[in-house]
Amino acid sequence: MVARLIVISNRVAVPESASESSAGGLAVAVQAALSGREGIWFGWSGRVTEEPEQEAAVRKVGGTTYVVLDLAPGDFNEYYNGFANRVLWPILHYRLDLAEFTRLDLSGYQRVNNYFAESLSKILRPDDVVWVHDYHLMPLAKLLRERGHENQIGYFLHVPCPPPDILTALPKHREIVGALTAFDLIGLQTENDCDNLGRYLVRQGAVRAPDLHRLEAGGRTVTLGAFPVGIETARFEKMARRAAATILIKETAESLAGRAMVMSVDRLDYSKGLPNRMDAIERFLTSYPEWNGRVTFLQIAPKSRAGIQEYADIDRQVSTLAGQINGSHGDVTWTPIRYVNRAYSRAALAGLYRLARVGLVTPLRDGMNLVAKEYVAAQNPLDPGVLVLSQFAGASDELDGALIVNPHEPEAVAAAIRFALEMPLDARKARYQRMMAVLRANDIHGWTTRFLSALEKTRREAPVAASRPAMPA
Ligand code: ADP
Ligand code: F6P
Repeated sequence: MVARLIVISNRVAVPESASESSAGGLAVAVQAALSGREGIWFGWSGRVTEEPEQEAAVRKVGGTTYVVLDLAPGDFNEYYNGFANRVLWPILHYRLDLAEFTRLDLSGYQRVNNYFAESLSKILRPDDVVWVHDYHLMPLAKLLRERGHENQIGYFLHVPCPPPDILTALPKHREIVGALTAFDLIGLQTENDCDNLGRYLVRQGAVRAPDLHRLEAGGRTVTLGAFPVGIETARFEKMARRAAATILIKETAESLAGRAMVMSVDRLDYSKGLPNRMDAIERFLTSYPEWNGRVTFLQIAPKSRAGIQEYADIDRQVSTLAGQINGSHGDVTWTPIRYVNRAYSRAALAGLYRLARVGLVTPLRDGMNLVAKEYVAAQNPLDPGVLVLSQFAGASDELDGALIVNPHEPEAVAAAIRFALEMPLDARKARYQRMMAVLRANDIHGWTTRFLSALEKTRREAPVAASRPAMPA
C-alpha cells in the first residue's frame, strides 16, 4: 500500500473558499503536488474566531482531505502577523531593518506550532509521510518528535535562506531555525540557500557528513538539498492558448490599441521591489521617449497581509508612485501604467501573460518567483515575449534565457525593458526554447517526485536514533 502523504502548511487552499483568490506560490505549488494522489492537506482554515473549535474541520474533495484549524485573534496577531510575518519574513528576505521582535509574538508562534502538533498527533499513523512547508512551521518536526512520532518528515522552505550572520540576528534562533534538524530532509529553492542554511547549522554545532549535504545534530541525521519549485508547465501552456479566445483577453488586446504590453504580477509585498520597478519605468519613459505612447505597463498587485504596517506603507507608496508617473508622462489618450489590486483566475493570468511582450519580474529578494516561470510557459512559441528577471529571484538560477537584471540599478532595468521590446524574433524564440526546456524538465510534478524520493532515500540511508532531542537550544 502507498503511504499517505500529509502536507502541512499555514495556508490551505480549501476548494471554494480560497482556491482562486489565494495568490501565493506555496498554495499554487501544494495544490498541484496533491492533485492526483491520496493525501491530507493540514493547516490554518484562514478564519479568525473568538472561540476556535478545538477539533479540526475535515472536508474531502477528490483524493485530498482538507483538515483545517481556526485561529483565535491573539494567535493570528502573534503567530501570523507577528513572529511569522514581522520577524521571520523580513529576516529571511535579508531585511533586518524591518524585523520587529517581541517575546509575546514568539510565544504566539510556539503556541500555534504546538496547537498544530497536538492536533496532527491525533491523526498521524506511523507510516504516513509528512511534508511541512515554509517558515510558519519551522519547529513542527521537533514538536512531533517530542510526541513520539518517528515518521519520515520533510520540510520545504519556499522563501530565501540568508547567510548565518543574518540568521543569528533572529532572537532565539536556535529554538526556531536550529529546530529544523528534527526533519529528515530540508528542501530549499537554490544551492545558495542550501549553502547558507548548512553553514548556519554547522556554526551552531551540527557536524557535516562526508557528502556535505548531510549533517549530524543531536543524534539525528538531516539532509539538505536544493529542489527548485516548478509550475504546472503543460497546463499553463494550454490555459494560455485557450484564454486567447476569452472576452477578457480580447477586450484587453483591443484596449491596448496596438501598444506593446509590459506586465508584472506580484503580491503587494516589500520584497517584490515595486518602488524600484516604478523608478525603472520612470527612467525608461524619460530615457527612451521614442517609446512614449507605444507601451503600456500592467502591474497586477493583489493586496497582502493587510494587518501589517509595512504592507500598508508599500501599498500607499506604490499607488502614489504609479499616480505620479501617469500624471507626468501620460496624456488624454494614454496612461503608461495600469495598476490593479485584484485577484484573477489562473486562466485569466495565463492569457494576460501571453499578451504581454515583456514580463517584468524584479523582486529585491524572492525564494523562487513562480510568476517568472508562469510568464514563460504562457508564451506563444511562434512569437514569444521576453522575460526581464531579477538576479535575486531564485528563478534566475534556472532561467538563463531571461534578461537578468539588478533591481537596484534602475537605468539597467530601463535599458533591459527597451532591449526586450526591440529583440528580434529569432533571439526571442531561442531564449524561450531554452527556458521551456528547463520548465518542462522541472515541472511541479517532477519537483514533488524528486522531493518525496529524496525523503524516502534519507530514511533508507540514515536510520535515525529514535526520540532524541534535535539541536541543543
Ligand atoms: P509569492 O509566493 O511570494 O506570492 P510567487 O511569484 O512565487 O510569489 O507566487 C505567486 C503566485 O500567486 C503565482 O502562482 C501567481 O500566479 C499567483 N498570483 C499572483 N497574483 C495573483 C492575482 N492577482 N490573482 C491570482 N493569482 C495571483
Ligand atoms: O511563498 C511564500 C508565501 O509566504 C507562502 O508561504 C504564502 O502562501 C504566500 O507567500 C502568500 O502569503 P500569505 O499566506 O501570508 O498570504
